[in-house]
Amino acid sequence: MKVAIIGGSGVKDSDLLKTKAASLETPFGEVTFYHGLFRGEEVIFLPRHNKEHTLPPHLINYRANIRALKDLGVKRVLATSAVGALRADLPPGSLVLLNQFLDFTKRRALSFDETEVKHLDFSEPYCPEILQILKEELALLNLESQEGCYVCTEGPRYETPAEVKMFAQLGGDVVGMTNIPEVTLAKEAGICYACLATVTNFGAGIQKKPLKHEEVIEVMNANASNLRRLLEKVIPRLQTDPHKCTCF
Ligand code: HPA
Repeated sequence: MKVAIIGGSGVKDSDLLKTKAASLETPFGEVTFYHGLFRGEEVIFLPRHNKEHTLPPHLINYRANIRALKDLGVKRVLATSAVGALRADLPPGSLVLLNQFLDFTKRRALSFDETEVKHLDFSEPYCPEILQILKEELALLNLESQEGCYVCTEGPRYETPAEVKMFAQLGGDVVGMTNIPEVTLAKEAGICYACLATVTNFGAGIQKKPLKHEEVIEVMNANASNLRRLLEKVIPRLQTDPHKCTCF
């Protein structure tokens, strides 16, 4: 099965993937991505903020990205994401497998086809099979992780302490700016999708000092080798483990 990795802040095409740049035109715009080879099998790498990290969350062309993956024949996507913690017991470096989301975005194109009424079921937003593979491989690597609910804000600013408090009261565990509409478009496209989030900071108010983007990148860099070890184990399973879920 063809697999793609969507890399968030601080995640680069590691030499593991041996990447070659390419681009694809979609009805929503052009997408630059990378062809990688992993043990002889193709893996697509798509840096969400582009290679130079110049695209802010609210300007990412999510429709073009997911449509490109669909057109490339990708069936399973593992996304990575940097997030802020909404709970004091999730320190920087914690790994969270997203299992639910709360959508607080405001002005994003949420569907491929806006001429048709389409109401998709979202009882299970993230692919249970990819989640299971991630859980098993994280445990084998002795890397602690937990499942959690992701709150997506519009960004690009960070939250106020009042927002962090509200999101936590609503049941959110972590906050970020990019998972919507990435996950919802993946479901619409019939692609299995899961996201491994890395906590890079406490949310505003839990953390008393001002939050800086450099801090986010520092924590992601510190976690890069763990992520690489995990990808080495997970990618072959995503390529070959049988598919029985209902994502497609
Ligand atoms: N808020 C929103 N997005 C983020 C954060 C945060 O605290 N940290 C990393 N991405």
